[in-house]
Amino acid sequence: MILVTGGAGFIGANFVLDWLAQGDEPVVNLDKLTYAGNRENLAAREGDTRHVFVQGDIGDTALVSQLLAQHRPRAVLNFAAESHVDRSIHGPGDFIQTNVVGTFRLLEAVRTYWDALPAGEREAFRFLHVSTDEVYGSLAPTDPAFTETHRYEPNSPYSASKAASDHLVRAWHHTYGLPVLTTNCSNNYGPFHFPEKLIPLMIVNALAGKPLPVYGDGMQVRDWLYVKDHCSAIRRVLAAGRLGETYNVGGWNEKPNIEIVKTVCALLDALRPRADGQSYATQITYVKDRPGHDRRYAIDARKIERELGWKPAETFESGIRKTVQWYLDHPEWVQRVQSGAYREWVQKQYAGGAAAA
Ligand code: NAD
Ligand code: TYD
Repeated sequence: MILVTGGAGFIGANFVLDWLAQGDEPVVNLDKLTYAGNRENLAAREGDTRHVFVQGDIGDTALVSQLLAQHRPRAVLNFAAESHVDRSIHGPGDFIQTNVVGTFRLLEAVRTYWDALPAGEREAFRFLHVSTDEVYGSLAPTDPAFTETHRYEPNSPYSASKAASDHLVRAWHHTYGLPVLTTNCSNNYGPFHFPEKLIPLMIVNALAGKPLPVYGDGMQVRDWLYVKDHCSAIRRVLAAGRLGETYNVGGWNEKPNIEIVKTVCALLDALRPRADGQSYATQITYVKDRPGHDRRYAIDARKIERELGWKPAETFESGIRKTVQWYLDHPEWVQRVQSGAYREWVQKQYAGGAAAA
């Protein structure tokens, strides 16, 4: 079996659902259930004995050691993290605690477990660390996309904490021989995406008749990857990635934020027209920029294609249509994640039209 951390969050839940749909191998899912973790994301696997959910912290060494000893996974996949840049600006402490200290403690617990495995199992074992393109910093408009050898230049508390965790993972391989793999992916989108991030926030605000807050001039560029493509890339790296290597995962979909927001509006105009016949685009509102806002991310995903034969299956057009449709089909999910804690965040972040002010 495999042990997944953070499997009640956006990407982790998609990964667990896909994993269980595609094979028989069981999953132990360790998740702290922070504001971003949601067991409802896994409702489709309620009662499936191949899915063991455990609420807990990756930094809880006693718990992690006990889970490893009890379930004897052949791999640990680390999705658990604090993941939202704007939250890291308001409060970096949790990011250091989970992304840096938590990853360190997880690595230590896994190393102890791995050290004691019989030779064959020890050789087959993998620790796969899920990271981000944000560790590479920001690109100018004509710079080539990030390759795996781009220097680390993180600019936000979030990306600095992820960069630190990547370095720890690398060091545990070089120093202790732990069989690690690291993936650095671009911005994901798709089902179960928490509506604090750009795409789901725009969909839920549009439908609620609220402003669509675009930071600064809206010309920041991100490379968008459909979450199910990310999951297939991780499965591929786990199966065939070279030990100690990092693999960039991207969707070959660089787009400025304003174009993303307009695309979402156009899809909603077609699928769920506003009662007054106007476009949702009339709700777009430019707000104060994010401090230290990275201008452009772009992933060069040729290494994973060349070495492992992975390519994204979705185009942005197909992926965004599925995503908007998913939100239209799941109003109860949207309603339930917009809890008191969510409303407090929205108030803190967007009050007065100022982002992270
Ligand atoms: P998310 O915020 O939706 O989910 C994170 C999950 O981790 C939640 O379920 C949360 O409860 C859990 N968690 C947080 N702290 C924990 C702890 N200490 N112990 C155990 N569980 C804990 O994040 P996501 O978007 O699903 O991202 C998953 C991973 O992918 C993260 O490592 C993130 O840095 C990385 N990533 C995300 C994106 C993206 O676009 N979402 C892009 C690149 C990389
Ligand atoms: P986000 O989804 O937070 O991902 P990241 O910051 O990790 O790339 O934001 C994506 C882009 O959208 C980023 O350039 C910030 C911008 N953005 C807005 O313009 N308005 C918003 O309300 C949010 C949440 C993000």
